[in-house]
Amino acid sequence: MTALARKIVIDTATTEFATDAIAGLTAMPKRLSPKYFYDSAGSALFERITQLPEYYPTRREIGILNERAAEIAALVPTGTALIEFGSGSSTKTRIVLSTATSLAAYVPVDISAQFLHQQAIDLRREYPKLAVLPVAADFTKPFDLPGAVEAMPRVGFFPGSTIGNFEPHEAASFLRHAGRILGRGATFIVGVDLVKDTQVLNKAYNDAQGVTAKFNLNVLERMNRELGCKFNLASFEHHAFFNRERSCIEMHLASLKRQRIKVCGECIDFRAGETIHTENSYKYSIESFGALARGAGFTPVSVWTDPDGYFSVHALSLRDGRSTPTW
Ligand code: AVJ
Repeated sequence: MTALARKIVIDTATTEFATDAIAGLTAMPKRLSPKYFYDSAGSALFERITQLPEYYPTRREIGILNERAAEIAALVPTGTALIEFGSGSSTKTRIVLSTATSLAAYVPVDISAQFLHQQAIDLRREYPKLAVLPVAADFTKPFDLPGAVEAMPRVGFFPGSTIGNFEPHEAASFLRHAGRILGRGATFIVGVDLVKDTQVLNKAYNDAQGVTAKFNLNVLERMNRELGCKFNLASFEHHAFFNRERSCIEMHLASLKRQRIKVCGECIDFRAGETIHTENSYKYSIESFGALARGAGFTPVSVWTDPDGYFSVHALSLRDGRSTPTW
């Protein structure tokens, strides 16, 4: 067995990446899941994206959370547990933790146990009265909440328009799943990027410094590093455009020439111009997201936007007995 084969057998995360890469690259059209963007290089590139002048979502959402912190805090009953689906947005979390002083517990749910551990240490020091109870789990799958929060009122938090990475039907099933975990009476705070001028959208994913291109191409580099592939990054090009019909930004990596690349022993052929579809980032209107949430058993109670209506933060409730949720 080669060193690479041994590594693949031993490391289950690498095995999953290899399996998904082969499945996605032998599919028609070729695709890769956006979750593979986020190795340590990719996460650092995403941090840089959030600071780009063209990438408005992070700044706008932080602005809304700061502006509306008191209104959000008013939705948090005394002794509440804040459950964050996928943590990593420490700035956003801290806005809520600092304003909603009625919070008794914070439950960050994230796949990266190491990241959670470091985050918990920092937060316990900063918020000594708060019980910080991390759960290392894939937040899209069922998981158990810590016993200590069972009797507490719950507020869910899902910022960053991460929900935009799901197909709309997947977003609806995610909301249902979150509702099941949060339980009756809960509130769910969700950040959602909005449909807007096509130029503004296209620029946000085609920045002048080329950081988004690097972020997209990094997935090829990651396959080189972790799966021993030999992708030549110079022979692929970053493409990102707003698909108005589907209301999403599509990101692709386009092969600049005919080429054959081996991926874990499998030959992958590219036609000139053929693309790997690497991400969808859905954009909603306030109404279309409200309808999606209602369909998943929630009642929209409040929605806040920045003055230009670029980004939205929704407060959804499971309080209303009006429609019987089907879970
Ligand atoms: C983290 C999924 C919200 O869709 O805007 C940024 C990821 N991709 N630039 C987004 C991303 C390219 C981002 N989300």
